[in-house]
Amino acid sequence: MLKVLVLVSGGGTNLQAIIDAVRENKITNTQLIGVISNNKSAYALTRAEENGIPAYCISPKSFETRAAFNEAFLAKVNELQPDLIVLAGFLVVIPPEMIRTYAGRIINIHPSLIPAFCGTGFYGLKVHEKALERGVKVAGATVHFVDEGTDTGPIILQKPVMVEQGDTPEVLQRRVMEQAEWQILPQAIDLIANGKVKLEDGKAVIME
Ligand code: GRF
Repeated sequence: MLKVLVLVSGGGTNLQAIIDAVRENKITNTQLIGVISNNKSAYALTRAEENGIPAYCISPKSFETRAAFNEAFLAKVNELQPDLIVLAGFLVVIPPEMIRTYAGRIINIHPSLIPAFCGTGFYGLKVHEKALERGVKVAGATVHFVDEGTDTGPIILQKPVMVEQGDTPEVLQRRVMEQAEWQILPQAIDLIANGKVKLEDGKAVIME
């Protein structure tokens, strides 16, 4: 049984997709052991509580220094002993020590087809604003392993989404979430939970 910890900062629609997929057996062999947010008003925490998943808020604002936050954050994560950590709209920089401790066991959902529109400063609505500014015809989302960089780890799954005439950033974001993020994040967790993803020469290989 894969013990999964989900890290969130916002509305938690990706968390909800994971919760629903576990309930509907689209994700098997998995137990959601906790949700941690840096933002006490994140609706994602409410979604966790409504579904009986232990929910915690650990905010950098509650600590004198980032180092103190990092220490407390990592201590809570270690206490929960996750097999997999899922960043689902999590907007806090992951402490380098956590990247090392959980190497190959942290995944992230990014709302673009990496390597497009990713890296520092590309998150949330900004990703879609830049995509529309550039005039791309295809958007999408990516699930990747987290390494020391920003959105640079091995890509696990991607899903394209067509941009439509007259799209606003908000409309495009919603379509990318509905048609891509909420599909490939649960799918990636199920693949990992069932031993179907391996790392080879720095690439993630899916074994169907
Ligand atoms: C959204 O911008 C989504 O594209 C990205 O994280 C943000 C929050 O999503 N993955 P959520 O509703 O909190 O899952």
